[in-house]
Amino acid sequence: MNKVVVIGAQWGDEGKGRIVDLLAERADLVARFNGGHNAGHTLVVNGQTWKLALLPCGLLRGKKGVIGNGVVVDPQALLAEIDRVAAQGLAVTPDTLAIADNATLLLPSHVALDAAQEALRAQPVGTTGRGIGPAFEDRAGRRAIRLAELADPAMLRLRLAEALAYHNALLTAQGYPAFDLEAVLAGLLELAPRLLPFIQPAWQLLNEADEAGRRILFEGAQAMLLDVEHGTYPFVTSSGTGPAQAASGTGLGGAARGQVLGVCKAYATRVGEGPFPTELLGAAGDALRQRGGEYGTNTGRPRRCGWLDAALLRKSVRVGGITQLALTKLDVLDGMEELRICTGYRVDGAPRADYPAAMAERGRVEPVYETLPGWRESTRGARSLDALPEAARAYIRRIEQLAGAPVALISTSAERDDVIQLRDPWAER
Ligand code: IMO
Ligand code: MG
Repeated sequence: MNKVVVIGAQWGDEGKGRIVDLLAERADLVARFNGGHNAGHTLVVNGQTWKLALLPCGLLRGKKGVIGNGVVVDPQALLAEIDRVAAQGLAVTPDTLAIADNATLLLPSHVALDAAQEALRAQPVGTTGRGIGPAFEDRAGRRAIRLAELADPAMLRLRLAEALAYHNALLTAQGYPAFDLEAVLAGLLELAPRLLPFIQPAWQLLNEADEAGRRILFEGAQAMLLDVEHGTYPFVTSSGTGPAQAASGTGLGGAARGQVLGVCKAYATRVGEGPFPTELLGAAGDALRQRGGEYGTNTGRPRRCGWLDAALLRKSVRVGGITQLALTKLDVLDGMEELRICTGYRVDGAPRADYPAAMAERGRVEPVYETLPGWRESTRGARSLDALPEAARAYIRRIEQLAGAPVALISTSAERDDVIQLRDPWAER
């Protein structure tokens, strides 16, 4: 298998960055295919913490990074991130990073629209406020400016005038200030010379690498339950998050035929609004947040915490074509007397295997739990299954059964090498 797609199996923040980092060691290229700088991927390497939003995590392993066409790129945020990692000792150059010429440019007006849209919503989504949704809307609406246009100021002006005419109509109608074409254009033209050397037909690069049998790792942002089609809509992000998006968001069609590694926390978290059937409120939720350090990488927002929802995990496995699971943050559960796993739901007292699509019904959902014994011992830093207490092994086996996919990797701390490897996602299926 020369292609592995890493995706989130819950609501994001599962530790995808750390799993990508592990697999990137044996990859040749690492490609992002969705989202934008709403992603927050944290890695700890030799005690040093790295926080990446747009840059593929594989850059830290010295692997070629690709930002695919499925990503919306805020040029200012990207260049700031490149400068930030440079200060930490990682040089990102056109030799190490390729950015798709057909990726969408995220504009300052998208950020304003993100806030304006949230203000209009009866039930706000709780977005990251980065302008991600409006940028994806523009792409579907054929107003988006693709990165290739940065090379031609006259064309850029034309495209920008069209986009801003639309954005300003929406913004001023709500009483927000309009964006000035010349000012936004000047800002883009100032950044363009630094960006242009990275911009190229990334789909070609990836297909040529694939044809040469090189190993390509696809780094998903967000997660199946935030997927615009299959997530807990409308409390989702605006892009696809599964392997089909890995294919369309890079232009390497074969991506969808790769191994699909779904990353899943040993419990559940969610940031922003929306359904979370197994959420723990009050002291129990606070305790999990404390123990797990559950605060947004990006926005610092406290994450909502709760029990593992195996019914929704099963859905992610099926919808996302997940072939193997990576389980993270197992150590956070150390010392808990008992653990609960949601195995299905009741709606108005009637059993139901799947989480409903209809929003009114969701308000009447009650999770059905199974209780498993916890363990007292520390699992932190464990590197073999034998080093885990039997109760932890039983918990993992039960997750595999309920999810319908085997666990390939178990990470037991944020450190790069604290991992139990049960299967090799790069090995042939
Ligand atoms: P990573 O890659 C967790 C959530 C936001 C909000 C919803 C829509 O780190 O797992 P958006 O700004 O995308 O329009 O917000 O999606 N969200 C994430 N939650 N991890 C992420 O990325 C997320 N990216 C978006 O909190 O609820
Ligand atoms: Mg995150």
